[in-house]
Amino acid sequence: MADSKDIVVRKGLEGVVIDSTSVSKVMPDINSLTYRGYTAQELCEHCRFEEVAYLLWNQQLPNASELKAFEKQERDLRALSDPLKKVIAQFPKEAHPMDAIRTGISFLGMEHPEAFNATEPKDILNHSIEIFAKAPTIVAAAYRLRNGDQPIEPKADLSYSENFFHMCFGEVPDADIVRAFDVSLILYAEHGFNASTFTTRVITSTLSDVYSAVTGGIGALKGPLHGGANEQVMYVLKEIGSPDKAKAWLEDAIAQKKKIMGFGHRVYKKGDSRVPTMKKYLEILSEKKGDKKWLEIANVLEEGMVEKKNIHPNVDFPAGPAYYLMGFPIDLYTPIFVMARITGWTAHYMEQFENNRIIRPLSEYVGEKPRKVVPIDQR
Ligand code: COA
Repeated sequence: MADSKDIVVRKGLEGVVIDSTSVSKVMPDINSLTYRGYTAQELCEHCRFEEVAYLLWNQQLPNASELKAFEKQERDLRALSDPLKKVIAQFPKEAHPMDAIRTGISFLGMEHPEAFNATEPKDILNHSIEIFAKAPTIVAAAYRLRNGDQPIEPKADLSYSENFFHMCFGEVPDADIVRAFDVSLILYAEHGFNASTFTTRVITSTLSDVYSAVTGGIGALKGPLHGGANEQVMYVLKEIGSPDKAKAWLEDAIAQKKKIMGFGHRVYKKGDSRVPTMKKYLEILSEKKGDKKWLEIANVLEEGMVEKKNIHPNVDFPAGPAYYLMGFPIDLYTPIFVMARITGWTAHYMEQFENNRIIRPLSEYVGEKPRKVVPIDQR
């Protein structure tokens, strides 16, 4: 054990390399992000989200027949059990949808007690696909029930993204809107040892099951400094209300030293590599919906933040208004992020499990010096 004078505290684990990974690489210097060696931008250009999920789990992109088999497995698993449906129907209507998906996945784990003993990679993969397939059904069912609507059953002839629109709204929008959503899922799928992925790896390192790891990841993602930022961005854009008010709002926020949601990143300091792709789709959506207000407010904030603070937007910044234009209620944005990130979390579960050592860091003690307990009648 080191003397306290030798201890270097790395608050927030900044700069600490805690393990190796082959899942993804964040390269802030060249503003790039790769999943299993492929850039996220190129994956967005050429692939559907299901192909990327397959890639993260199987290290390779699928060929046509592999994709077909994988999609059949995922589509066959989408429906929820009756007990799970009943649990969702009892969720408090005012609960945040992140609590709904966290509890839903936790309950799903109770339906799979065998996962606690799963050590074979193929079994862990099957449990991961189970979570992946049912997460959108849980999110959509909880959303509809809180509005007093009946849940809509999943449809096996729709893609992952199309089916989510169908289960939320009873219809699938046009292909450009579905594509924008699919691209957001690809961009949200994986991002190195971020807070929620690290949480899932810590849970995995105790040899807990994959449902517990994902449930913990959801808890970490909910916070506004992490995934919850995509919701906060939209609340800010709505608070500002119109492009002509954006400059004054920003100046005031900077003067008050407020954190502006959707800006800044622990790893990227010169801009988030995912932003240009997501922004392109935000522009497409704004054009398509004939509603450019949010994009214009966002542009004023982006220019001002870069000019005055040299702080760039992260992917949550364009994702928030993009989901708004797709018609989702604001508190569904982070659960959508969950649906995407399940792929990355579970890929990390597999990697950690295969080559495990329990994660157990140290701390510098700054509390009381050793002292005697005074019995209660003398205190
Ligand atoms: N708005 C205003 N100032 C910001 C900022 C933001 N969004 N993000 C960082 N800064 C400033 C900090 O105030 C700090 O300034 P200081 O050195 O004068 O105190 C400096 O930049 C470093 O920020 P810090 O919070 O220490 O960075 P971090 O690496 O610990 O945190 C985030 C990274 C992402 C948590 C942080 O940038 C943040 O809170 N962003 C808003 C939430 C968000 O969008 N999260 C999604 C991340 S993908």
